[in-house]
Amino acid sequence: MRALKIAVLASGGGTNLQALIDAQNAGKINGTIALVISNRKNAYALERARLANIACEHISTKSYPDPIDYDKALLSRLKAHQIDLIVLAGYLKILSPVLIQAYQHKIINIHPSLLPAFGGDGFYGIHVHNAVYQSGAKVSGATVHFVTEGVDAGPIILQKAIPLEQNWQATDIQAAVLKIEHPLLVEAVSLFCDNRLEIKENRVYIQGEL
Ligand code: GRF
Repeated sequence: MRALKIAVLASGGGTNLQALIDAQNAGKINGTIALVISNRKNAYALERARLANIACEHISTKSYPDPIDYDKALLSRLKAHQIDLIVLAGYLKILSPVLIQAYQHKIINIHPSLLPAFGGDGFYGIHVHNAVYQSGAKVSGATVHFVTEGVDAGPIILQKAIPLEQNWQATDIQAAVLKIEHPLLVEAVSLFCDNRLEIKENRVYIQGEL
């Protein structure tokens, strides 16, 4: 089976992207990150791509203010690079149906909470961890899931929970969760590239030994 071609969409610092780049270079993923796209010109994720000699592009929301036009432009770039899998790694735009339907069950997102808790509209970045902190929860964690038209609502691929120290603030929770996101996302992308993920009735079954 040929190595899949992966596009990573990112809006921020790109530490999840970096984890995927490092895993690819270590031969841990039967796939190639062929393209990185950001909606933010100065996203450090783009610099990480440049440093790794990976094709990268900024698609400006000013050029395509309508979200559907934006995603059509994005889709044309993905098709031009013959992308098989899209990974959202800190990508802050909501995907429109045109993109989701073109890549049905071929879009993976990482979210920094144990979905369905602390997910959905408005739950992104530090807002997630503020809500976790305010709730008094004793655990948090990360979720990798397939993207569907609901926000943070697609079939869950992998999750990992971590205990929260009682003196932690939201920023401490964010740092601890980010640390476990990286291997979780790498494992999920690797399983996808090895064709070991099967979806039945909104549940994901992993084929073979974990
Ligand atoms: C991560 O916490 C991810 O779960 C969330 O946005 C953050 C991106 O971090 N969607 P980075 O840009 O990968 O460092």
